[in-house]
Amino acid sequence: MNIADPLLSLRDLKSYLRTPRGLVRAVDGVTLDLAAGRTLGLVGESGCGKSVLARSILGLLPDAILQKAGGEIRFGGRDLRRSTEAELRKVRGREIAMIFQDPMTSLNPVLKVGPQIEQALRLHLGLRRTEARERAVDLLDQVGIPAARQRAVSYPHELSGGMRQRVMIAIALACDPKLLIADEPTTALDVTVQAQILDLLQEQQARRGMALILITHNLGVVAGMADEVAVMYAGRIVEHGPTAALLADPRMPYTAALLRSAPRLSDPPHTRLEAITGRPPVLVDPPAGCRFAPRCARSREDCRREPPEIEEAGTGRRFACWHPLELAHA
Ligand SMILES: Nc1ncnc2c1ncn2[C@@H]1O[C@H](COP(=O)(O)OP(=O)(O)OP(=O)(O)O)[C@@H](O)[C@H]1O
Ligand SMILES: [Mg+2]
Repeated sequence: MNIADPLLSLRDLKSYLRTPRGLVRAVDGVTLDLAAGRTLGLVGESGCGKSVLARSILGLLPDAILQKAGGEIRFGGRDLRRSTEAELRKVRGREIAMIFQDPMTSLNPVLKVGPQIEQALRLHLGLRRTEARERAVDLLDQVGIPAARQRAVSYPHELSGGMRQRVMIAIALACDPKLLIADEPTTALDVTVQAQILDLLQEQQARRGMALILITHNLGVVAGMADEVAVMYAGRIVEHGPTAALLADPRMPYTAALLRSAPRLSDPPHTRLEAITGRPPVLVDPPAGCRFAPRCARSREDCRREPPEIEEAGTGRRFACWHPLELAHA
């Protein structure tokens, strides 16, 4: 692998899912590069395909659901879309790890938390039992679990939500992955615990130099943590660029609408948020042109005719729009 190669490269990624309502184009042509050690914030309304994109990268969509898979997922010189399940198992957890929103559904309820970390260490790194046990305690300590040795013999239900999420992070970090995908890692937690967990993620990322894809609805979190932001709408990335520039100067009207719908600390009290009118399209039969056109105040006839491709717009920015917003702060 060339040193300048990105860690992760998605090329025209498509994941179409089988549902009772028909074929859902949950991810529909995503092209994206992520360099080692970088943090990408992935944002967009509910149902726009963020989680399906994350699961696609890890090969976590069962064949029974994934009816049509297209494109490439290049990671460390391999195309994960063409890897066998056995090859993927070596990558999952070992090189790419994922944290889900709800730790209760991803932790094994009948296994103590220490042994759950040990499992990962023994499976992927081939550590022996005593070595794995020590390493598990060390990891629990690193993720800020007090009295880690005693805690290692607790069951998940004996821990608070925040502690369980810390255990999930310990499992994810166990094998020193090059890429961590965190899918709304803190939505189930209260605000102070959220902040602690995000601090922990940031600290561990800096220490390990791993790349992070952070999926969140919280644009404040994105502003504070992400080097770059990708905005997804209806299965596609509609805007992508360095965080500060993208937040200050969105080009694609959907990004602007998303920003207007989010609370900002700088807003005076009682500022009304503008909800985005309408709903995202149903991905069984998406609109022919730009998928945001039916909800977009700037849309014209051409928008409804042909979908805009996502194109480079200089200074590391890309967007997909026929009638983009002007740069206000350039
Ligand atoms: N297991 C599944 N089976 C069938 N359809 C699915 C499945 N998972 C997701 N979908 C559909 O795929 C589309 C994208 O869903 P996805 O979960 O990726 O959205 P999301 O952006 O993660 O939303 P949220 O912000 O609510 O988590 C939606 O239309 C959803 O209904
Ligand atoms: Mg999701």
